[in-house]
Amino acid sequence: MKASNLALSATIVAFAAAQDTAQFVNQFIGTKNGGHVFSGATLPWGSVKAGADSNSTDNQAGYVSDGSSITGISQLHDDGTGGGASLGNFPFLPFTDTECANNDLTKCTVDHILRALGHGDPTASPGYFSIPLNNSVQAEVTVTQHTAVHRFTYPTGTNELLFLLDLTTDLAGTYQGGGTVTVSPNQETHGTRITGSGTFLPSFGEGSFQVYFCFDSQATFVQAKYYETVAGTLTYTNLSSTATFNQDIGNDNPAGVLMGFSESPATAETLVVRMGVSWTSTAKACAYAEEEIPDISSSSFDSVQAAARAKWNDVLNTVEVDATGVSDDTQVLFWSSLYRAYISPTNITGDNPLWVSTEPYYDSFYCIWDSFRVVHPLYSITAPTTQAEVIRALIDIYRNTGWLPDCRMSLDKGFTQGGSNADSLLSDSYVKGITAGIDWETGYEAMVKDATIEGDFSVQGRGGVPSRARLGYVPVNDTDNPPNEGPNTRSASRLLEYANNDFNIGLVAQGLGKTADMAHYFSESGDWANLWNPNATNNGFNGFIQPRLANGSWYFDPRYDIGDVFRPDHCSPVFGHDDCFLNPSGGEFYEASSWEYSWFVPQDMALLVKKIGGPATFSARLDTFFADGFHDIGDEPGFLPTYLYNYVGQPTKTVDRVDLVLNQYFNTSLNGLPGNDDSGAMGSYVVWSHLGTNFPSGGSSKDYFVKSGATSSNNITPQNTYLISRPYFPKITIRNEVNGAVATIIASGLSAENIYVQSATLNGHTYTKNWITHELFTNGGTLSLVMGSSKSSTWGTGEADLPMSLSTGGFQ
Ligand SMILES: *[C@@H]1O[C@H](CO)[C@@H](O)[C@H](O)[C@H]1NC(C)=O
Ligand SMILES: *[C@@H]1O[C@H](CO)[C@@H](O)[C@H](O)[C@H]1NC(C)=O
Ligand SMILES: *[C@@H]1O[C@H](CO)[C@@H](O)[C@H](O)[C@H]1NC(C)=O
Ligand SMILES: *[C@@H]1O[C@H](CO)[C@@H](O)[C@H](O)[C@H]1NC(C)=O
Ligand SMILES: *[C@@H]1O[C@H](CO)[C@@H](O)[C@H](O)[C@H]1NC(C)=O
Ligand SMILES: *[C@@H]1O[C@H](CO)[C@@H](O)[C@H](O)[C@H]1NC(C)=O
Ligand SMILES: *[C@@H]1O[C@H](CO)[C@@H](O)[C@H](O)[C@H]1NC(C)=O
Ligand SMILES: *[C@@H]1O[C@H](CO)[C@@H](O)[C@H](O)[C@H]1NC(C)=O
Repeated sequence: MKASNLALSATIVAFAAAQDTAQFVNQFIGTKNGGHVFSGATLPWGSVKAGADSNSTDNQAGYVSDGSSITGISQLHDDGTGGGASLGNFPFLPFTDTECANNDLTKCTVDHILRALGHGDPTASPGYFSIPLNNSVQAEVTVTQHTAVHRFTYPTGTNELLFLLDLTTDLAGTYQGGGTVTVSPNQETHGTRITGSGTFLPSFGEGSFQVYFCFDSQATFVQAKYYETVAGTLTYTNLSSTATFNQDIGNDNPAGVLMGFSESPATAETLVVRMGVSWTSTAKACAYAEEEIPDISSSSFDSVQAAARAKWNDVLNTVEVDATGVSDDTQVLFWSSLYRAYISPTNITGDNPLWVSTEPYYDSFYCIWDSFRVVHPLYSITAPTTQAEVIRALIDIYRNTGWLPDCRMSLDKGFTQGGSNADSLLSDSYVKGITAGIDWETGYEAMVKDATIEGDFSVQGRGGVPSRARLGYVPVNDTDNPPNEGPNTRSASRLLEYANNDFNIGLVAQGLGKTADMAHYFSESGDWANLWNPNATNNGFNGFIQPRLANGSWYFDPRYDIGDVFRPDHCSPVFGHDDCFLNPSGGEFYEASSWEYSWFVPQDMALLVKKIGGPATFSARLDTFFADGFHDIGDEPGFLPTYLYNYVGQPTKTVDRVDLVLNQYFNTSLNGLPGNDDSGAMGSYVVWSHLGTNFPSGGSSKDYFVKSGATSSNNITPQNTYLISRPYFPKITIRNEVNGAVATIIASGLSAENIYVQSATLNGHTYTKNWITHELFTNGGTLSLVMGSSKSSTWGTGEADLPMSLSTGGFQ
């Protein structure tokens, strides 16, 4: 670290502690129209994510801002996912004597749909969620890492605080039996303790999982009943507040506990409940709860809430912006987006029941196909400590399961969407010098396994490995390595991703001094060209990625390519948008069209420019792609194209495109996301775009080393490429939490009109390239951009200013 940075970072640290950035976070953005954003209470990467659950088909993350009623307040959720609704385990619901006639617990409706209550507008802030239910009970929740604390405030004059704990109903109704419950008086607090567990199914994966809880309240119930469904009929067992009750819960459900607590002078109409959750045991759930929240009271709720907010401020404040002249709305958009980047994956280090290890364990990678492009690259500059733990966790998953995951949730293997993109995620961190405690040799071994050994590619590794080795591409209906589990589809989009994954393996090989491997994988990364059909045409442009049969013929999908005319627009927003999902009839491209996938060559854009017909045609083709509706920013493959004008020396067109995309598709409304947030992927795209840079979103694919004859990760100089568009703040600083280095991006003269870079300096030296490297973030420094209203025809436009490509000698 430079001495000057040391001084500056010390100032920043002091300043950061005082900054309440959390005030700019709006957790409800994207809770409507398919954003599936989790709006409840969590810590950064928190294990427990507590919030309300809506009776809505859009309730993947629990609460939906569509007015539908509330089935409960549950303890676990995922953020922004597609697929089915995730988790939603062990919901609570407060009742009053209106719902349970005259406090008769057998009259409370326990069915999770039928019991749903209307509600008023919820409020939330980082680490906190609150919702007024129509029975006049206010439900609030805040969290620590493994524990939620709930506070229910009943209407004044309530004589008995009625309460439901549902043991078996999660959001998607996946309960498999294998449950237990123990209701016991808590000797220490003379209150109520309930522990238990159940077996449930993952929302986008195989197998099942067991999860455990520990419920505590200071209050002693005046009446309580255990209920379960026996042969379709609800049956009740009276519980005693002095004797322990134990029960196994089979497949009959719903089952749960109904309680009535007396209103007491000390607590008035407030019921505070602490709920520890563990993936290992009820004992661990209780231990977490006791350690993290020793005191169960209304005042302790307030201090837990304050601590959660402080934790969020710590994490958010590695980034600082000068918001002079910037609207509140832009600030809210920016900080809410950064906030969402940190909800998942979950850090459940120390709570992994699957294997014994001293390595970190992270869960809810949902999925790496979504997060490798922008989420984890963002961590490498804003949260490198977490990123190092994530890498260690992924490598440990490889050690213990034999494979790196693409998707993984609730301790189970999830379905792979495309390539083996964990390779790219790892490589991105490797080339950025993220080393802390990471065994890169084993990481490299895991990547090579992906590239060379075919397993069950529906949940791990790649498909078509032997066929591709023979043909240079993955053929339609590959049969080389039966049984090829899972939908044997997506041959074209998988090949493009495999090629990019190979490039990333090559980068790590290079850094580890494995020169022959580097050459091999860089060469493999050219396989995309084997699916480039120069004769395919659409809307006046020639050359598209087209699937191929094993015998070499181009493939026409009889359902869409009418008369053997290949339709590169199929699966784009204008033609068959919903045809390409992960199902047996999903076709040869995944969640995007050939029009869009045909841009996905971040390792060698120069060669793509050539194949498309040169810079002018490339630029015109991008224009048509956007103008004619083939672009889909609502799905991750849509990120990369918005920045591609930089590869033909037209950074001002990138500025215009990104500006338009942000204005049109991302805002602070409840419906402010164009698609599923996908564990913060949409949010991360917004963050990068506001910083004024972005990856050529192939993940790390644009990363490279300055060759230094290095043979280990400790003495190489990692650099990588960030394409420059334009910042949305006059000044941004990013503090590297590992070494304290401070990167500053200045946009002088920035205004509503002055959005184009006229000239630039990097650390005081004139800078004309339309991209920068990661050095800015590891060593610190200043990128200073002079902004103006004219579309500069000089800055960033020359041949020497273009980002690197393999075929023009880059990366090696
Ligand atoms: C739950 O949603 C369904 C489908 O929209 C609706 O018919 C039903 O009335 C809702 N139930 C409650 C209790 O709100
Ligand atoms: C719940 O209360 C709100 C606000 O009073 C009201 O607008 C809404 O209609 C109620 N919903 C139900 C389902 O009763
Ligand atoms: C259970 O409690 C109810 C009152 O809540 C009482 O009427 C009933 O007799 C009790 N049942 C048994 C089996 O003790
Ligand atoms: C992850 O959890 C472990 C165990 O609680 C903790 O030591 C570590 O600091 C956490 N990591 C982050 C980035 O918070
Ligand atoms: C691929 O396999 C599917 C399912 O078996 C079949 O319907 C389709 O005709 C096959 N396509 C080709 C090109 O062989
Ligand atoms: C493109 O079409 C021409 C003329 O029909 C043919 O000679 C050539 O082989 C085709 N190229 C490919 C890659 O199919
Ligand atoms: C490849 O197979 C397809 C489908 O069986 C057939 O239509 C085509 O003519 C074959 N191409 C070659 C080059 O044999
Ligand atoms: C906000 O974003 C959504 C999702 O992209 C879009 O449908 C909506 O029109 C936008 N709203 C405004 C006011 O721009």
